[in-house]
Amino acid sequence: MKDVKKAETLEILDELEIKYLGRKGELTGLLKGLANVSKEERPKLGALANDVKQAGLELIEKRRNELASSRFEALADTERADMTEPGNRAPDGHLHLVTQAIREITTIFERIGFYRTRYPEIDWDWYAFESLNMPKEHPARDDWETFFMDALESDKKRKGKMVLTPHTSNAQGRELERGEFPVRMLNIGKCYRRQSDATHAPMFHQFEGLLVDEGINLSHLRGILDYFAEQFFGKGRVSRIRPHHFRFTEPSFEVDISCGVCGGEGKIDGKKCKVCKQGWLEIGGAGMVHPNVLTASGVDPKKYSGLAFGWGIERVAMMKEGTQLDDIRILYQNDVRFLKQF
Ligand code: DAH
Repeated sequence: MKDVKKAETLEILDELEIKYLGRKGELTGLLKGLANVSKEERPKLGALANDVKQAGLELIEKRRNELASSRFEALADTERADMTEPGNRAPDGHLHLVTQAIREITTIFERIGFYRTRYPEIDWDWYAFESLNMPKEHPARDDWETFFMDALESDKKRKGKMVLTPHTSNAQGRELERGEFPVRMLNIGKCYRRQSDATHAPMFHQFEGLLVDEGINLSHLRGILDYFAEQFFGKGRVSRIRPHHFRFTEPSFEVDISCGVCGGEGKIDGKKCKVCKQGWLEIGGAGMVHPNVLTASGVDPKKYSGLAFGWGIERVAMMKEGTQLDDIRILYQNDVRFLKQF
């Protein structure tokens, strides 16, 4: 059994145990041979064989313990950890670009008395379209490529089909029907449209402003848009409005911001500005709330008037950074190499 003492690994030791003491091992073979021994000799030899087996087991157990403890000693050398050493600091993350923009936009509008609301991002057709003066068959609705959801026929609150909100304008009806004035709502939420290409993501964010009170007019809208242009994009930036058509506002406009590179000139040293080409960058839509929208939510358009505006968070965030993304969907791929630049 010398080789037991020399065994270098626990595996070798297991093999030796089987070899000597196992069911088919050498000692068992010897015990079987006792049948051929005389009756007088048999007990003596039997007792001897048992002693040998016992001694063998002890020897193996002893070696096993030795091997185990030396393995721990070796580990203590190689795997030693100095608990007093400073650890590796986990990298600090930061807020996603879109979250940063949401917070900044919220603060900008809170400063002039707007309050943030959160209305459903899965809502009834009534709020998403119908109450916004967009009747069912109206072709304008095709512009909002909508995801429809299944809803229970028995749902008591049901107001038409259920949709993933394709814009944040659904908040207008929800806020107006509360009947508290003045309304100075800033609704920020996710929007969903059946679209996915380099310039469109199927899920994106918009913010929607709604100001309704007695005597609200177009000059209030102009003031708010210029205020936003300067606060969000920086000193010297201004807004302009161009006539457009939306069903829920009358008159309706598209809103542009003066280009930060050429200062709204469209040219630098006689050459066309590469960023804007004509001095202005389009950001979204706005207008004076259509009387039908007020009426649909139980508000008297003879007493109250309002303005509304709304556009994409991702869009203004990237415009502010001055970064043109090859593919807007990269914002949501969670690639840290991209995200940590902002
Ligand atoms: N809801 C419109 C869209 O998704 C944007 C918009 C335009 C919102 C004009 C408004 C508005 O509040 O007055 O394209």
